[in-house]
Amino acid sequence: MANIAVLGAQWGDEGKGKIVDLIADRFDVVARSSGGHNAGHTVKVGDQKFILSLIPTGILRGKKGIIGNGLVVDPAALLREIKTLEGLGITVKGNLFISHRAHVIFPYHRMMERASEDTPGKVKIGTTSRGIGPCYEDKIGRRGIRFAELLDTAGFPERFRAAAEEKNIIATALNIHEPWDIEAILKEYQDYAEQLRPYVTDTIYLVNQLIRQGEKVLFEGAQGTMLDIDHGTYPYLTSSNATVGGVCTGLGVSPMLIDGVVGIAKAYATRVGGGPFATELLGDAGNALRNAGNEFGTVTGRPRRCGWFDLPLMNYAHNVNHLTTLVITKLDVLDYLETIPVCVAYKYKGEKLDFMPALPEVYEAVVPVYEERPGWHCSTAGIREYDQLPQAAKDYISYLEGQLEVEIGCISTGPERDETIIRRGSKFAGFLA
Ligand code: GDP
Ligand code: IMO
Ligand code: MG
Repeated sequence: MANIAVLGAQWGDEGKGKIVDLIADRFDVVARSSGGHNAGHTVKVGDQKFILSLIPTGILRGKKGIIGNGLVVDPAALLREIKTLEGLGITVKGNLFISHRAHVIFPYHRMMERASEDTPGKVKIGTTSRGIGPCYEDKIGRRGIRFAELLDTAGFPERFRAAAEEKNIIATALNIHEPWDIEAILKEYQDYAEQLRPYVTDTIYLVNQLIRQGEKVLFEGAQGTMLDIDHGTYPYLTSSNATVGGVCTGLGVSPMLIDGVVGIAKAYATRVGGGPFATELLGDAGNALRNAGNEFGTVTGRPRRCGWFDLPLMNYAHNVNHLTTLVITKLDVLDYLETIPVCVAYKYKGEKLDFMPALPEVYEAVVPVYEERPGWHCSTAGIREYDQLPQAAKDYISYLEGQLEVEIGCISTGPERDETIIRRGSKFAGFLA
């Protein structure tokens, strides 16, 4: 086994950062293929906590990090992240490679997003307000500005002015009055271009060349399956492909080169922002789970909505990504529960649904059917050996495995690197051999 994708199976924040960090040691390269600084991947090492948004998590382990063509990059955010990491003693220069085909986020993208999110009568997605969606809109609309254009000293000013003027016209039509100085922003971005020039390259060539030379690549997912623009809870999702197909398009890597797909899911479920969430827990029960899991957004600090593990959703994520193995994170968060409900089916108007609803109104109205699993009611925090888990926790894991027909090769019992169980003989363990 060589190249492995690690992908969120739910609505993001499943603990991808922790797992990528845990296994990055066994790889040479860690590559991101989608999203932008809407992502927040937490890695905890002793007293130190790192939050990575754009830079692949493997950089912490001294690995090469690739920001693929599928990302949208805010240069100011990226420079801040580089500075923070370098301040913590992490070597970024020489290890980080940015695709010249990645798209650039400009201040007008954030402005357009604010306008869209705040307009009465428009669907409010509850985005991270980073300009991600509008930047992808420009990409798909074939009017975006990529690093290639940003670094083209001669051509950039004209391209930027044209793009900015167009946004001004739209802003005026939408009655948005945000004064902004096109020439000042141009200068600012010319400065970013020079700061980032040493990092920008043809990453499609690079990643394929490295694979040909026998280097192992870990593809670090961002967001999660249900936030994927094609497969998620449209329109309440992000604007990129967070599923396995996005790895190929977002890096220029053939599916033939992906040797395994690791899905990451919490032992329960969360989501940030708006949109349907069948197993959501409201009131005290939701607050209890949120507090137990410390479920507050890594990027925006917003309280995450919390609910129970959802088998129909996970089956769907398995279909879309064909998971080789599954990692269950935050098992320790369920320690306080007497019983643990697991959603086994959705009912809509009294009928069992065989498919994931496409209409948000239908998804909102589904009634989850629960099966109660016994809790273990003791601490699993920090357990590293499967055999040391209480029997009811083992039963919970076996139950999920049986229902999903995917092995659970790894179980996370705390935020720290070593608070993890890697199951002997699993495909997950095989990836690390
Ligand atoms: P990502 O976006 O998928 O990388 O996940 P985030 O970093 O946004 O959110 C996951 C949060 O859960 C972080 O604060 C992690 O430190 C924490 N975490 C990860 N795994 C575990 C675990 O097994 N137990 C507990 N209690 N916390 C965990
Ligand atoms: P990681 O990689 C959780 C959510 C936002 C919002 C929707 C659209 O840390 O798992 P956007 O700014 O992308 O247009 O917002 O998607 N969202 C995430 N939720 N984790 C993430 O990333 C997310 N990235 C975007 O909250 O509901
Ligand atoms: Mg996150």
